[in-house]
Amino acid sequence: GKGGYDHYMLKEIESQPESLSNTIRGRIDPDEPAVHLEDFPRGCFEDVTEVHFVACGTSYHAALYGARLLEEANVSVRASRASEFSGRIPNPDGTLVVPVTQSGETADTLGALRAAREAGARTLAVTNVIGSTIAREADEVLYIRAGPEIGVAATKTFSSQVVTLVLLAERLREEVEGAIAREDRREFLEALSVLPDQIEEVIRTSRAEALSEKYDDRGAYFFIGHALQHPVALEGALKFKEITYEHAEGFASGELKHGPLALVTPGTPIFALFDGKHDEKTHTNAKEAQARGAEIVAVTSSERTASFADDVLAIPDTHPDLVGLLANVQLQFVSYYTARLLGRPIDKPRNLAKSVTVE
Ligand code: M6R
Repeated sequence: GKGGYDHYMLKEIESQPESLSNTIRGRIDPDEPAVHLEDFPRGCFEDVTEVHFVACGTSYHAALYGARLLEEANVSVRASRASEFSGRIPNPDGTLVVPVTQSGETADTLGALRAAREAGARTLAVTNVIGSTIAREADEVLYIRAGPEIGVAATKTFSSQVVTLVLLAERLREEVEGAIAREDRREFLEALSVLPDQIEEVIRTSRAEALSEKYDDRGAYFFIGHALQHPVALEGALKFKEITYEHAEGFASGELKHGPLALVTPGTPIFALFDGKHDEKTHTNAKEAQARGAEIVAVTSSERTASFADDVLAIPDTHPDLVGLLANVQLQFVSYYTARLLGRPIDKPRNLAKSVTVE
């Protein structure tokens, strides 16, 4: 049941400290420092030269996060929407195809998995559901261990997918030829191990409910971010439109001025995601929009970064590669409280299904 919560979505957002603890349990050792994925012993990725993610919706955003991490590690990587996957794999012997899917039953993702197998690539599914079709048909499976998710909006499974892909990326960068290992591995793994506590802190201190009341009824909502914050911006917008039925879009910070800025009018809320490392582009473009009347909500751990903004959603300090996970919880709350204010059927948005088994 909902365990005292009004909606499964809120229960699932607030269970992330627990679900993420399950995702990382036994898998990271900051002292060594090392990542251990029980089914993937040392050497098992030695033949991999290239990684190709296929996924839909929220899972695609998690895949983009994983892809960006690998890109920064100098690994050849792509992420395709499963429905757009061409089935072409130029180098099947070296390519690891990774379907990312909460349910393990999404028809588009299953189609992409089958096409990848047909092309002769090795396949490794990242999923939540043991025994699902995609778990059974992929060569190998890495479980995200988030526990059952009832709300149609994916929340705790997104964070567990991202963290699982972070772990997979760490393992891959050890073995893919030419990949760059982290210099700050210990700090990174330490940051990962305290992430569940920091999410707890966000849950305890979030001002998202009051903020949602202020920004109610604006007609359009934008979310911007650069680098690893870009997929989080896309995810923030998807969640928002899915459960509030309000128009919302996510953009790469630098793309605003290439078109979307024309949509900005006085009072348009823009949620700007900062990671403390790549903030220049987001800062410049958010200020540009602000000069056109947009109201900027900065999601950041830095008071200095936030000083120009109209509002702030504060997050604790963490490693730059993990900031998106904390920012995302704030955005989940913004969607939830806005939808609640608007009286939407939060756990079952119109026209949508939890698992989309048609192409
Ligand atoms: O089960 P999957 O992860 O394969 O589902 C993919 C999408 O249908 C899913 O993430 C969808 O976008 C969510 N309802 C978004 O909250």
